[in-house]
Amino acid sequence: MKRWVIVAAILVIGAWLLGMWLLPGAFSAKRKPTELEIAMARFLRHWATPVDYRHAVNPIPLSPEVLREARHHFADHCAICHANDGSGKTAMGPNFYPPVPDLRQDAIQSMSDGELFYVIHFGIAFTGMPAWGSSSPEKDLESWKLVHFIRHLPQITQEELDDMKRYNPISRQELEEQLAIERFLAGEDIQLPTEHGHSH
Ligand code: HEC
Repeated sequence: MKRWVIVAAILVIGAWLLGMWLLPGAFSAKRKPTELEIAMARFLRHWATPVDYRHAVNPIPLSPEVLREARHHFADHCAICHANDGSGKTAMGPNFYPPVPDLRQDAIQSMSDGELFYVIHFGIAFTGMPAWGSSSPEKDLESWKLVHFIRHLPQITQEELDDMKRYNPISRQELEEQLAIERFLAGEDIQLPTEHGHSH
């Protein structure tokens, strides 16, 4: 009896010391995952995607109209992390753990349509990627349209990127400044906003 108490105490103290040695910094998002970690996560997520989703066929036929809609949707909801061109080069993108990936790269373009849909619909736990799906079938169709857009990213044109800028979220203040500049350029006699806040 007494021996077991001593063994248990040694184990508890040992685990505590090991934890104190390993834990500091373990939850910092400033770390970068290793190539091995990334490859393992990708492998596990592939097999964690239910078969029905993996083999699902995009129910939305590709058309210029669908692509345009998805482009605006992406600019509004996804570009804040992923950038309009899908590069992930945004203020937040590189600072997540794991960082926002370049959506144009092979590792992502080689995923099936169903796998991409699954990521958009269910998000990715323990990362910055949120789940966007709801139980409404209309929302599902939005996600399928985004799958078409992600496939289009490697061929996106400058013209399309310029168009997207009009759909990126901006602050109320930026909007007021832009409107003021437009009115000024249109010849209205108004004072332009200064660096120190707004003028009315
Ligand atoms: C708050 C930031 C954020 C927003 C907003 C966001 N994502 Fe992500 N996304 C991430 C992060 C972080 C990852 C990387 C996760 C990982 O590596 O496991 C990611 C990964 C992805 C991937 C790659 C999945 C994979 O298997 O590698 C796709 C596709 C994706 N996002 C699509 C979208 C779409 C479409 C939207 C908009 C509807 C969106 N994301 C909005 C942060 C975001």
